[in-house]
Amino acid sequence: MTQAIRSLLALAVAVFTLSLAAPAHAQDPAAGRQKADTCMGCHGIQGYQASFPEIYKVPKLSGQNTQYLINALNEYKKGERKHPTMHAVASTLSDKDIADLAAFFHQYGAADIKPAPETLTPPPSPAVAALITKGACTSCHGANFSKPIDPSYPKLAGQYASYLAAALKAYATEGNPYVGRNNAIMSVQAKQFTHAELERIADYVGSLPSELRTVQNPRFR
Ligand code: HEC
Ligand code: HEC
Repeated sequence: MTQAIRSLLALAVAVFTLSLAAPAHAQDPAAGRQKADTCMGCHGIQGYQASFPEIYKVPKLSGQNTQYLINALNEYKKGERKHPTMHAVASTLSDKDIADLAAFFHQYGAADIKPAPETLTPPPSPAVAALITKGACTSCHGANFSKPIDPSYPKLAGQYASYLAAALKAYATEGNPYVGRNNAIMSVQAKQFTHAELERIADYVGSLPSELRTVQNPRFR
């Protein structure tokens, strides 16, 4: 092979790799910052409570995986996740808005976030450990609930327990026009437990050291 052909080949491979790596919509966190003002009214206030379908805390977004945030917003938009407020919010967003917002929340305040310990710290009680084993939760969400096996799966450790419980119950809910999450994987998981068991799992996972935060909007300080 001549040198010229070799460098041409190398170039072709580089271009191909680049086009594979390019996301469908470029994610611009700075543009996301500009679009996030509405979100901050709920997601930028520590411990802000939602009151539907029950009283629970609005989820932490900072530090969450970008691809998971994109998927969640699309699910609200399409109605696969039924939640009247988030459906209304997400319906106004374009694919580009969603990509920018996800990139923004992923990194907003994340510089202060320390990696979670590799193992479950403190370890669960035997009863909770049995529930986690039954659901094989850590096989997807990671040994510490902070290292999911795929970037489209969420980090759970230290997320608000009341939100985790509401989310788990939503995956198990069918036939309600306002509550429910249509996700094949998690529906199967959630339906094998009682609500009381889901709440016990949520309380434990929510108590773990977290890579997630609610970062206040400077304007609300
Ligand atoms: C009026 C309050 C409110 C506003 C405004 C709001 N949200 Fe939400 N958001 C919520 C609530 C409540 C939930 C939990 C819904 C559920 O139970 O599924 C949520 C859930 C989410 C989730 C899912 C998180 C997860 O862990 O699955 C994402 C992502 C999200 N919101 C992003 C946004 C973005 C981006 C904006 C601005 C464009 C926004 N939200 C505006 C209240 C709000
Ligand atoms: C086979 C892989 C897999 C297993 C096993 C699994 N999950 Fe999940 N989990 C997912 C995926 C994928 C999602 C995102 C679903 C979506 O888009 O709504 C998810 C979402 C969640 C959410 C929603 C988080 C949020 O921010 O809204 C909770 C809570 C959750 N899982 C808890 C659990 C628990 C507890 C177990 C064990 C009982 C478990 N998962 C087992 C893959 C899995």
